Amino acid sequence: MFRLLFMSFVLLGFTACDDDKPTIELDGKKLTEQHCASCHDLHVPPVISDDELAPPMLAISVHIPELVSASNESEKRSKAIEFVVDYVRDPSAKKAFCDKESIKRYGLMPSLKESVTKEEARAIAIYMFKYYTQERLTKKMKEKAEYDALEPGKKVALKYRCMGCHKVDRKVIGPSFIDIAKRHTDSKEKMKQSIKEGSRESWEHSNGAIMPSFKQISDDELERLSEWILRSE
Ligand code: HEC
Ligand code: HEC
Repeated sequence: MFRLLFMSFVLLGFTACDDDKPTIELDGKKLTEQHCASCHDLHVPPVISDDELAPPMLAISVHIPELVSASNESEKRSKAIEFVVDYVRDPSAKKAFCDKESIKRYGLMPSLKESVTKEEARAIAIYMFKYYTQERLTKKMKEKAEYDALEPGKKVALKYRCMGCHKVDRKVIGPSFIDIAKRHTDSKEKMKQSIKEGSRESWEHSNGAIMPSFKQISDDELERLSEWILRSE
């Protein structure tokens, strides 16, 4: 405790002029990755697997605030945080909110008392309830559905960041895909080669900018990408 006070005094002394925020801030995200990821899946949406060791973090985080007894939202949140801080260091079947089946399936969570301090557990819990929410799940699912609906060739263009230099309908750093499609309607193989090997000085308006090579692109991806570019209009 003394050391902590001393540290905050020293750090405050150095940083007081450029920042009013509390100086010693534990990084909840990093701590969660460090101490929880070996058993709890941290993705949103979770990556479900048959041999998972514990319920996904999202499932825990969405359920606990609904299960604690509290009269309003802010009390729910603080009780949920309190529960996690305690459970991480002192788990028991009696305290657990998850049903008997889950405890049977996964076994009881081991205590992390030796590796996680109370302050760290609090930082983790705060991060957990802020990040792992129903709203984030809904948003991510929507993004994923939008991405899945894209044309296969456009997915490849996004994967290799082609759109950082190209737009479909206007020149930016590189020529528009519409202009490229016009030029290469009958020279698809030549165009593929340019993507793979790069190109320079064949477009007069590129002002010395060059097309980098994408040697790592697979033949399959290159075909999908080229089909998509040539269909631009
Ligand atoms: C060694 C594996 C393991 C690690 C590491 C682990 N957990 Fe768990 N955790 C489990 C298992 C198994 C369960 C399900 C059984 C239970 O509830 O005890 C669980 C359940 C939980 C629950 C739900 C309790 C309930 O029933 O409502 C919370 C909250 C939780 N873990 C938080 C954490 C946090 C936060 C971390 C990281 C600091 C963490 N766990 C690290 C294995 C682990
Ligand atoms: C760093 C910017 C940059 C990136 C990233 C980039 N390009 Fe280009 N691209 C250019 C420039 C500049 C040109 C014009 C080069 C020239 O004058 O020969 C060009 C030209 C092209 C051409 C026409 C080549 C020819 O022979 O006529 C194609 C096709 C093309 N890019 C496709 C792509 C694809 C597909 C990707 C992603 C895999 C991509 N580009 C990523 C900058 C870029």
